[in-house]
Amino acid sequence: MRVLLAGATGTIGTEMVPQLLHAGHEVLGITRSERGAARLAESGAIPINADMMDREGLLRAVRGQRLDAVVHQATAITGTPLFHRDLYATDRLRDEGTANLLAAARQSGATRFVTQSFFLGYGYRDHGTEPVTEDRPFAEPGQGRGYDVHMRSMRANEHQAFSTPGIEGIALRYGMFYGPEPSTRKLMDLARRRLLPVARPAGVVSLVHVHDAAAAAVAALERGRAGTPYNIADDEPVGFDDYVRALARAAGAPEPRTVPAWLLAATPYLKAMMTNTRIRLSSERARRELGWQPGYPTYREGLLTRARS
Ligand SMILES: NC(=O)c1ccc[n+]([C@@H]2O[C@H](COP(=O)([O-])OP(=O)(O)OC[C@H]3O[C@@H](n4cnc5c(N)ncnc54)[C@H](OP(=O)(O)O)[C@@H]3O)[C@@H](O)[C@H]2O)c1
Repeated sequence: MRVLLAGATGTIGTEMVPQLLHAGHEVLGITRSERGAARLAESGAIPINADMMDREGLLRAVRGQRLDAVVHQATAITGTPLFHRDLYATDRLRDEGTANLLAAARQSGATRFVTQSFFLGYGYRDHGTEPVTEDRPFAEPGQGRGYDVHMRSMRANEHQAFSTPGIEGIALRYGMFYGPEPSTRKLMDLARRRLLPVARPAGVVSLVHVHDAAAAAVAALERGRAGTPYNIADDEPVGFDDYVRALARAAGAPEPRTVPAWLLAATPYLKAMMTNTRIRLSSERARRELGWQPGYPTYREGLLTRARS
């Protein structure tokens, strides 16, 4: 397939480009920078200089291109979000950005569109001990002022992908990324400086190694069913307390301090993620329909490779 990849220079995009090329696809990678363009060309992709928030500029940049598919992997999150405002630019990429990419897809004759958001669309709360499947309500409004703006954008993202005429839209709902990527590095760095505490009570999170997240996107491009969301997470949900301790060990840092959850009140988004949310994602559908399975079944194997790399 001839694939336009938004976010081609990012954490997931950088993993995806070689995987797509290896699978025999041709990749056109969007970037806003000359440096990004040079990196893409070096890796074997065709650079497309465009800002996906500038609809006219994007359509101009892909004019004359014939495409089979468009993949949206762009975000504007740097590291671990602490405050709600850290997600606003990504919210816009999921809403207007998706609309602009769909316009580019239609202009170029692409019929497949893969987009992504993440597990917190199920809600920043305790989901109990049962595995959360894609049949649960996703990105519902009414979760509180801080959260509704993120929910609206995740809903708009999937709704547009699934309902645009002539487009086979597929959505990935990723677990939390870790591996050789900025937020894992940042958390390890905080752990080394003893600034990453274990908060009690601790939430439960579903993780996915960035290499596996990229592989899932390639599988979705090739085999995803139109109009279908897929959860993408590894085999073992983990308590945030255990995960923080494992990060510290992998970083060669001392044992983290334990603090009461209320101490994180100054960073409400982080607190919601680390202490209030308990979620065990089921990726059964992705295994069954995409033939995907994580190469790193748990964070233990994944963090070991991270520590060595
Ligand atoms: N599930 C999760 O846990 C989750 C989900 C999302 C992100 N994150 C975290 O967020 C961090 C960032 O990772 P990432 O790979 O998504 O981001 P990143 O490494 O910062 O890359 C963002 C990508 O989006 C592109 N982009 C951003 N705004 C754009 C725009 N207006 N027009 C065109 N392209 C645009 C960038 O392209 P150029 O800069 O080249 O133009 C780049 O390719 C990571 O630490 C990751 O762990 C986590």
